[in-house]
Amino acid sequence: MPTSPKILVLLFSTTIFLSQQILGTSFSSSSTTCDHGTVIFFFPSFNTSNCNPGGDLLCMGVVTPGEGFLNLTTVSSNSSSTTDFNSIARVLYRDPVQVWPASFCTSFSLSIFSRFSQEFSGDGMAFLMTQDKEPSPVKSFGSFLGLQDKLLAGHSKFQQLAIEFDTFKNEWDPDGNHIGINTLSVMNSLIAKTLNSSNIELKSGKQIRVKIEYNGYTKDLQIYVGYEGNPLKSFLKYSIKVSKKVPSKVYLGFTASTGTLTETHQIHDWVFTSTMLPYYTVKDNKKKAIVLASVLPVVGGLIVFALIAIPIFRRRMIKKRERFRRMEELERQSAAAAPRKFTYKQLAKATKNFSKDNLLGTGGFGSVYKGQIVDPPQTIAVKKISSTSQQGEREYLAEICTIGRLRHRNILQLQGWSHENDSLLLVYEFMANKSLNEFLSGRKFLDWKARYKVLSGLASALLYLHEECGDPVVHRDVKPSNIMLDADLNPRLGDFGLARLLRNTTGVTTMVAGTLGYMAPEVSYTGKATTESDVYSFGVVALEMVCGKRFSNLLGESCLVDYAWDMHAKGTLEECVDPKLGDDFSKDEAVRILSVALSCLHLESNLRPEMRKVVMVLLNSDEPLMELPTTRPKGVYLSLYGFSNPPTTINNSNPNTPLFSWPDYPSSSANSNFPDESLAR
Ligand SMILES: *[C@@H]1O[C@H](CO)[C@@H](O)[C@H](O)[C@H]1NC(C)=O
Ligand SMILES: *[C@@H]1O[C@H](CO)[C@@H](O)[C@H](O)[C@H]1NC(C)=O
Ligand SMILES: *[C@@H]1O[C@H](CO)[C@@H](O)[C@H](O)[C@H]1NC(C)=O
Ligand SMILES: *[C@@H]1O[C@H](CO)[C@@H](O)[C@H](O)[C@H]1NC(C)=O
Repeated sequence: MPTSPKILVLLFSTTIFLSQQILGTSFSSSSTTCDHGTVIFFFPSFNTSNCNPGGDLLCMGVVTPGEGFLNLTTVSSNSSSTTDFNSIARVLYRDPVQVWPASFCTSFSLSIFSRFSQEFSGDGMAFLMTQDKEPSPVKSFGSFLGLQDKLLAGHSKFQQLAIEFDTFKNEWDPDGNHIGINTLSVMNSLIAKTLNSSNIELKSGKQIRVKIEYNGYTKDLQIYVGYEGNPLKSFLKYSIKVSKKVPSKVYLGFTASTGTLTETHQIHDWVFTSTMLPYYTVKDNKKKAIVLASVLPVVGGLIVFALIAIPIFRRRMIKKRERFRRMEELERQSAAAAPRKFTYKQLAKATKNFSKDNLLGTGGFGSVYKGQIVDPPQTIAVKKISSTSQQGEREYLAEICTIGRLRHRNILQLQGWSHENDSLLLVYEFMANKSLNEFLSGRKFLDWKARYKVLSGLASALLYLHEECGDPVVHRDVKPSNIMLDADLNPRLGDFGLARLLRNTTGVTTMVAGTLGYMAPEVSYTGKATTESDVYSFGVVALEMVCGKRFSNLLGESCLVDYAWDMHAKGTLEECVDPKLGDDFSKDEAVRILSVALSCLHLESNLRPEMRKVVMVLLNSDEPLMELPTTRPKGVYLSLYGFSNPPTTINNSNPNTPLFSWPDYPSSSANSNFPDESLAR
């Protein structure tokens, strides 16, 4: 397929986008504005109308709009005027804005003019995130920057977070030219750092650009400053959980104050962008409530964890012992629902001490070993997840709660777990026929009946996850290597949530946890896996199963789809069927599956069928098919380009630190029961 320049551009930008998301470098310091996320608001300049009733801003206290700027507090030319003293100004954006779970960025330009000389000037200003749209406390003038009532008493429940630009040295300040991060009290800054080393003088009257970025994954708050027109320099990086400090939705704005010394604080422009994190979203349509991945149980697990952990923290136990106790507690919590616990010794023995002979495969988050336990006699597969962080352990236990409660004949049942000796071990049933990967790489042949059984089973497993198991669970990573086959070639969908688990054990956060090639195109843009994106992945697998070919090979040819659409247009869809099957297949069933697959691959996620419909089409030959256009919808498969050309920046020499799983390469290790061998390159 010839690749047009336009597609190449798209490919390039998507590649950059993905690699930035993956490497967490999306927050660049080079640009002066916020160049990622959705623009929530943008004031290229200010004028009187902004502060008018019904304007975009709530202007409280001494706020004076000028030509293109806002003055917060004033210094009047009348030197005998006293109204400039002890004044407070507060400007808030009219609507509350969601700041978590999200990554956000704000950039603004400020200048500060002193009344007489820089020496006799004060007190400063702050960028503010606050729980309500009330004016500044009455007694918050002077050193309190409009943030905090002098008599702070009884105010501890108030939630705000402020970045201060402090121009007056109080006894608690490093100097009169610093940036600090404050919550309730300006006297106890979380951190304060002088601007001296960056050669920036707040009170110089020069325009100073500030950019503040918060990475919702790493929980890093990064502040950049520079004189307008000069490059921005990274000034301060501070690790902070915004969710601990302010409500999810806050009012954003600025405060400023004067005391016995005065100055004018001026803002010239202001932009705020935000990217929601892919936790979970609920559609308006309640029936279609979509919860991303198995987040609810995980959140539940974390809450349980928090409840247990907080008192223990208070007691300041020795770290190791404390951790151990938490695990024990959580285990008890999960014991009722989850599979059983093994000891490390049991599993070491079962796998001949994790010997090479028992190794079934190596992958992104560890290795998989075949094992034999005696009580009851059973062959198992043990997934060994190495070098876990504390975060990983939490997630891991939450995962056990999630997976443990899911029971379906087409879902790979977790048999148990163990977490001793810094190793996390997950125990599954042993799958005699490995995974669908074996089939797609040509090492195994499946006849038509088997293929139909696999697809019906997979569809019903997804239907179960999406609709029937209580809170909807999004698998996120439906691909051949995650579809195991038991001795009777029954499919077992495995490894849901592990993409997430893996992400957290390595400390690397990825926007998207799915596998390229099987991931719906919108996921690479929105970062949100949904039940619809699972449906897309199902479509890919279905097409591959019927055609006996991989959807997109390393050269990025999506000709499989093109071909299928061509045949559909000609009314000869059955010609797509794997020639190796000869005449041994049902033409009617093949056409049904192929049209289902094509409709699942729709670019518009809301035009894809629900899993329930897919199951009905597969199980009931009278079920009407979805309507398909006669020709391939334009641009629908454009996204496949990106999967052909792994961004080189993602190269990762350590197989235990996966950033992404790539489509399983046909040439990858032949000997695996589990999915991640594609990473063992
Ligand atoms: C103020 O700015 C708004 C846009 O932000 C513009 O529509 C309006 O005309 C401006 N008003 C004045 C008086 O310049
Ligand atoms: C804003 O402040 C500057 C600096 O003090 C001053 O020159 C200007 O007149 C003020 N503008 C308004 C509209 O108050
Ligand atoms: C300066 O301010 C004082 C006190 O507010 C006032 O009495 C005086 O008339 C003002 N002078 C001028 C020139 O505006
Ligand atoms: C920054 O420079 C100013 C002026 O030279 C000085 O007074 C102040 O102490 C310096 N701050 C620090 C923290 O050294």
